[in-house]
Amino acid sequence: MKVAVLGAAGGIGQALSLLLKTQLPAGSELSLYDVAPVVPGVAVDLSHIPTAVKVAGFGADNLAGALTGADIVIIPAGMPRKPGMDRADLFAVNAGIIKTLAEGIVANCPKALVGIITNPVNGTVPIVAEVFKKAGTYDKNRVFGVTTLDVIRSEAFIAELKGLNVSEVKIPVIGGHSGTTILPLLSQVEGVTFSDEEVAALTPRIQNAGTEVVNAKAGGGSATLSMGAAAARFCLSLVKGLQGEDVVDYAYVEVEGGDAPFFAHPVRLGVNGITEILPYGELSAFEEKAKNDMLATLNADIKEGVDFING
Ligand code: NAD
Ligand code: LMR
Repeated sequence: MKVAVLGAAGGIGQALSLLLKTQLPAGSELSLYDVAPVVPGVAVDLSHIPTAVKVAGFGADNLAGALTGADIVIIPAGMPRKPGMDRADLFAVNAGIIKTLAEGIVANCPKALVGIITNPVNGTVPIVAEVFKKAGTYDKNRVFGVTTLDVIRSEAFIAELKGLNVSEVKIPVIGGHSGTTILPLLSQVEGVTFSDEEVAALTPRIQNAGTEVVNAKAGGGSATLSMGAAAARFCLSLVKGLQGEDVVDYAYVEVEGGDAPFFAHPVRLGVNGITEILPYGELSAFEEKAKNDMLATLNADIKEGVDFING
């Protein structure tokens, strides 16, 4: 199993790479790529951790070396938010970065499973899909927007509010990854009921959790450690699928005939990526309205990504 992390020297990249170095199956290779000159040092640093995962660092001039033979590519490369910015404000800088990296994947590992963390996820995932389509290598079952942070935050906040064992909290989060496009389905948390007031308070807390971190870091970036944990969890789901295990996880994926062309759903994973997009189940009246109200925003975000390539 070879996993490539693109943007590996950044806040998320380093946390994620540390977790993968300690959690990937024995015999795996971890390939770290970044344009920052510190990346070979990050690889040397990690290589001193005694696990059976081989680490190599690749600088700006060797994207091909990082990607060749990769089974999974996880992308946290790009600029994070500062207070006062929306994720959409990152599009101008990050769209070009994602396009270049997607072209590298086309050239070096077109069959890899690709997990995109770079914001705005609602638009960067369609960019990757369009680059792959242009090259004739697109397989919608292999491209994922990583929305796991919305899931783990929901688990943490629900456990905190209700005094539950967090490892037993399961919650679907559907839609996109920004503001109101993030839709936690509180009505589907097993064994827990929420009052209308709790739903009205907890839903926006989950939707604005990224901003909560951005403001708390006061100009020092956005979520990196929780995102590293979320990305590792998602990457390990992809690994298990590739190893033939039956795994279900949540991700922002292309859905034919869905609510929007890309929408976070529960997906079943296997040796070729997605084997089945599962329905998200019945929504409460509150969730149905929230979903309908956010679709225009999500569709506009998706169109911006598609137009960036097809203009
Ligand atoms: P960071 O600035 O700490 O790290 C970004 C890294 O990307 C840097 O090391 C930088 O050198 C590298 N980079 C820039 N251009 C590159 C290129 N062309 N090729 C390779 N590497 C390149 O930022 P961060 O906090 O790690 O956040 C990274 C991205 O992840 C941001 O866009 C942020 O908004 C996003 N993010 C997404 C989620 C999510 O839930 N999907 C959560 C948190 C952050
Ligand atoms: C998050 O949800 O924490 C990330 O998308 C980063 C951000 O800008 O909020």
